[in-house]
Amino acid sequence: MTPPSTLRPGRARAARGASAVAILALVVSAAAAIPAAAAGSTLQDAAEDRNRYFGTAIAANRLSDSTYSTIANREFNMITAENEMKMDATEPNQNQFSYGNGDRILTWAQQNGKQVRGHALAWYSQQPGWMQRMEGSSLRQAMLNHVTQVATHYKGKIYAWDVVNEAFADGSSGGRRDSNLERTGSDWIEAAFRAARAADPGAILCYNDYNTDDWTHAKTQGVYRMVSDFKSRGVPIDCVGLQSHFNPQSPVPANYQTTIERFAALGVDVQITELDIEGSGQQQAENFRKVTQACLNVPRCTGITVWGVRDTDSWRASGTPLLFDGSGNKKAAYTAVLDTLNNGVEPTPTPTPTRTSTPTPTPTPTQSSTPTPTPTQSSTPTPTPTQTSNPGGACSAALTIANAWPGGYQGTVTVRAGSSAINGWRVTLPGGVSTNNVWNGVISGSVVSNAPYNGSIGSGQSTTFGFIGNGSAPGASSLTCS
Ligand code: XIL
Repeated sequence: MTPPSTLRPGRARAARGASAVAILALVVSAAAAIPAAAAGSTLQDAAEDRNRYFGTAIAANRLSDSTYSTIANREFNMITAENEMKMDATEPNQNQFSYGNGDRILTWAQQNGKQVRGHALAWYSQQPGWMQRMEGSSLRQAMLNHVTQVATHYKGKIYAWDVVNEAFADGSSGGRRDSNLERTGSDWIEAAFRAARAADPGAILCYNDYNTDDWTHAKTQGVYRMVSDFKSRGVPIDCVGLQSHFNPQSPVPANYQTTIERFAALGVDVQITELDIEGSGQQQAENFRKVTQACLNVPRCTGITVWGVRDTDSWRASGTPLLFDGSGNKKAAYTAVLDTLNNGVEPTPTPTPTRTSTPTPTPTPTQSSTPTPTPTQSSTPTPTPTQTSNPGGACSAALTIANAWPGGYQGTVTVRAGSSAINGWRVTLPGGVSTNNVWNGVISGSVVSNAPYNGSIGSGQSTTFGFIGNGSAPGASSLTCS
């Protein structure tokens, strides 16, 4: 079976909608003929330039609001039905399926060239009444029938499915949440994944949850153990969804990137599936920036979806947690996300005409190999060292160790421009580093230079590249950058 995780949203925004062959031809000729693409002016374009999607949840009954649909169409290229594909919506009576509103959203997305995340096939919440009253083997059967029927209805049209939503308990247990589904036997989750794979082999299959953003939380560790177990036993799982609903009680954790990295290292995509961050002004903007940057820093973090368009559309409207205000104006948070996606690139960057390769970062190579970190490794990675090298100069670079296992490690290098913008950089790896796998950079000997798409860094801005090192990890350190 083709691994569904190789599916990606379209990459060349100039060629959106064209065939794969045409896209390839355009990319090759564009790379040879014209300067590097200007910074994206919408979230979807900027994300696409980083090989990622940027999505939103859509409510079917708001599509007739033209302010709403105009923003949604302009800014986003991945669509999640906020409620319309859930169990209560799609099977209101047992074995009577109802796809009206789900199809409405799917059709709108398709007509506007967007992809769709399916949400959600099996969940303890938003079950139809008949299912809430069920237990045991009849419930197990009904759940599997639901997964099969709905995934079959949407077969070939869904980029990724949240197959199972919110099955883990909050608090310190790290175990499963009690529910009628859990009481059918804790193998219900893998049964749901197998049914989903059988029904739609082309969809990326995700486990989705909230409060799984902090690497040290028991709930995060519980999900990690399950995904690790599924991968080791061949249960078909391709992705972990981090809902990422943040507020002052549940802030963006400092180790958010670590969480993304650890899941990715299990060989699954990571998708930020329901992002909203309560707050306002620059503080909110900074939180959105952190989340966006964390995703960009991990190659297998393949996209971000915000949970609604305007603050007034949010399920937590009073927390004004989204990127557009109630009138549809862009908030500071919007600008922070867009600028982060654009990586400080100014609208007319320097051309890089001699490089013809497409800007595809190498996926994290740990996906298929054995160096899986053990779940007991709960320590956060080495903190970023103070970037002291060449402070007023063209650039500085700092190495951190994102992950380590017997015989290897994953290094992350942050390259930061000094007081002026730079167009191209070269970083010398510490002596003794041996790697045959670098992404977001091009290695020659011990020097890594920028990839075709990340050489331009605005003053004070940064980009990162990563590598898998052989042997034991060096300490975090400042590196020579020129
Ligand atoms: C929410 C919707 O936004 C609301 O409209 C609905 O009333 C309740 O569900 N986790 C999920 C989403 O996976 O489906 C939830 O969506 C928000 C929390």
